[in-house]
Amino acid sequence: MAAKKTINQGVEWNYSPALESTSHVKLKSKYDLYIDGKWVKPQSKKYFKTINPANEDVLAEVAHANEKDVDLAVKAARKAYRNVWSKMAPSERAKYIYRIARLMQERARELAVIESLDAGKVIRESRDVDVPLACNHFFYYAGWADKLEYAFPNRKVEALGVAGQIIPWNFPLLMAAWKIAPALAAGNTVVLKPAETTPLTALKLAEIIHDAGLPSGVVNIVTGYGDTGASIVNHPDVDKIAFTGSTGVGKIIQKAIAGTHKKSTLELGGKSANIIMDDAPIDQAVEGIVNGIFFNQGHVCCAGSRLFVQEGVAEKVIEKLKHRMDSLIVGDPLDKNTDIGAINSKDQLDIINGYVKIGNAEGAEMYQPKCKLPKSGFYCPPTLFMDVAQSSRLVQEEIFGPVLTIQTFRTVDEVLQKANNTPFGLAAGIWTDKGSRIFNLTTKLRAGVIWANTYNKFDPTSPFGGYKESGFGREGGLQGLGAYLKMN
Ligand code: NAI
Ligand code: MG
Repeated sequence: MAAKKTINQGVEWNYSPALESTSHVKLKSKYDLYIDGKWVKPQSKKYFKTINPANEDVLAEVAHANEKDVDLAVKAARKAYRNVWSKMAPSERAKYIYRIARLMQERARELAVIESLDAGKVIRESRDVDVPLACNHFFYYAGWADKLEYAFPNRKVEALGVAGQIIPWNFPLLMAAWKIAPALAAGNTVVLKPAETTPLTALKLAEIIHDAGLPSGVVNIVTGYGDTGASIVNHPDVDKIAFTGSTGVGKIIQKAIAGTHKKSTLELGGKSANIIMDDAPIDQAVEGIVNGIFFNQGHVCCAGSRLFVQEGVAEKVIEKLKHRMDSLIVGDPLDKNTDIGAINSKDQLDIINGYVKIGNAEGAEMYQPKCKLPKSGFYCPPTLFMDVAQSSRLVQEEIFGPVLTIQTFRTVDEVLQKANNTPFGLAAGIWTDKGSRIFNLTTKLRAGVIWANTYNKFDPTSPFGGYKESGFGREGGLQGLGAYLKMN
């Protein structure tokens, strides 16, 4: 791919391509289902293709599990729970979880490259964020496995049984880790379904789990589409559904399990406010805005997709933001210079472009830096919309792409009203020099996670989850462990 240009203080720079090698990556041309410690051909006899969204090349064919396949996986998980996993000393369970973490670290480079190939995310992020954080989740929860009675003092805790887990395509390996690690540490067995556009790192994780010698059936990976997910949700012998994805599917799941014994945690959409007060450190805030909305192409449930800037500094912030956007490199996810990679799928690109159209039709002012997008693959330049009304669909709905809306405000009360005026409540960011302002705003914003003078920081010890239509239940930390336990 040709070198790309970036502008710095009026000088144009050319970066030579710095492509990550794919030579060490081993992918099979066809993947079956990982059930009961074996690779099993799907009873559906169906396979689907997963592509690289950066160039539309087919990476592999992957099994499309049907109801019978899911039933086989749930039976394997139940048998492993009853006969092996629930009987094993917790300190032994911990060793397996540690071993998975160590093997993931050993194969970190391969996992990062496959994640970038399958999902379109930039290699710098999969290498430095997704994979290390995924390992950390296994390390962190391994530590709790034999200390459950200390984690929840004076409570009698017990595993739930079989956990059905359905994950999205924005952080494929990381979401698998968020789901599997606490479930195993709490003593459950698992049936996990990765998203249809990004199944490969979960299948690699199945290989790692196999190499770690985890007893058969403790973790089962079934690939497929929404119907496969629905088969997990509706299976009568699943004790818990853990779902991350769209609010629409979250609602379907909640209806489907109403009245059953199934517990659930739902981590759904977001439309998070990133608030810049007039005393904020402006340059740092601009970096925080960029990180908040352009990290992972904006495919982030907690993305800071609504920017609120106090009037006195609005002009300056917007000018600096545009200047910073001019230097962002959009292109090949495997190039270490790239800041914004490929949009995960054609469907998602269509959704984003649909919102861009709506913004323009509503008369909002749009800004996109001039950048050449690759000819094949799915790409969207970083985009700002200014002069947007609070009622605009761009402000109210989750776009899940590199599109930021900007609104201004005068007073704290005004920004609180605007920031909270959304069906979602996942995250927020506040930029100010004053500690008292931070405490005042954090107590009044309806959001599960609030960052102050930073954005998109994650740590396995820290619980994550939402209010309102962003779902319920927490993942990460002790709260994430508790979500996989019965407590008496
Ligand atoms: P989705 O919610 O349909 O997909 C997430 C997962 O759920 C996938 O593994 C999918 O196969 C599965 N699934 C789909 N229908 C199901 C059903 N009826 N029962 C059980 N599982 C089911 O999300 P999709 O269609 O990929 O993306 C559409 C929009 O959703 C995006 O534009 C974005 O706004 C939002 N989204 C939000 C995410 C978040 O973390 N906040 C993650 C993914 C999507
Ligand atoms: Mg793919």
